[in-house]
Amino acid sequence: MSFGYKGNIEQWKWYEAEELDSTNDAIRELNDNDLPAVITAIRQNKGRGRRGRTWIGLDGNLYFTYSLKILPQDLSKYVCLIGLSLAKTVQNFAVEKKVQIKWPNDIFLNDKKLTGILLENIKDDNWAIGIGVNIVNHPILTDQPYQATSLKENRVQTDRITFLHKFLTQFTQDIEIYKKQGFSQLKEQWLQKAYKLGQEIIIKNEQTTKKGLFLTLDDNGYLILKTKQGKEKIIAGDLFE
Ligand code: BTN
Repeated sequence: MSFGYKGNIEQWKWYEAEELDSTNDAIRELNDNDLPAVITAIRQNKGRGRRGRTWIGLDGNLYFTYSLKILPQDLSKYVCLIGLSLAKTVQNFAVEKKVQIKWPNDIFLNDKKLTGILLENIKDDNWAIGIGVNIVNHPILTDQPYQATSLKENRVQTDRITFLHKFLTQFTQDIEIYKKQGFSQLKEQWLQKAYKLGQEIIIKNEQTTKKGLFLTLDDNGYLILKTKQGKEKIIAGDLFE
């Protein structure tokens, strides 16, 4: 696999590959002194999604992974912050359209999935944040209870690299706010875009399925669900209707 250095975007050294299996794997091949880095792929052949799902690679879409140092106590908040920055970026392109964050951090545009995020640990506090954005193409999903969409389907015209720049700029701004002011203002922004907030939802993970009312996020970014047993803190899972 070969990458070309393309310049810097914010604090990240940007490398691009013509073709690779997964940008989340490629970032592990960089040396420590190449980090922080962002890797894009023009074609990604074996994209991974959360919980063993695949992320289908279609021409013209954005596939990237960037590295970030995240302390253990910040991790759950960063999971939300990355989703929030992505939602804001999408909203700036799709002004007046419905942009929502499905907990923990899928972005939905007009009720269809537009982006996915996969966080994986590289080593110690270094994390790989892999993001797929449907810019001009979207797959037909047959195994999920929702459809996918693209920016193009919503009459938003942009290209993958313009989107990448805007996202990394937005994320840099949001992280500065987080470092200076803490999570509370950003949490409110997240809640304003939350999918199914205040409604009945189902959360599934490997062990359990829980049904209840989506009350809020707590100060760590965990979902608070009101079930028959009382209020429960949900750390991981997928949200269903
Ligand atoms: C999901 O919604 O399940 C997460 C999808 C994450 C896909 C991106 S595409 C770039 C990066 N490389 C991968 O193999 N996966 C992520």
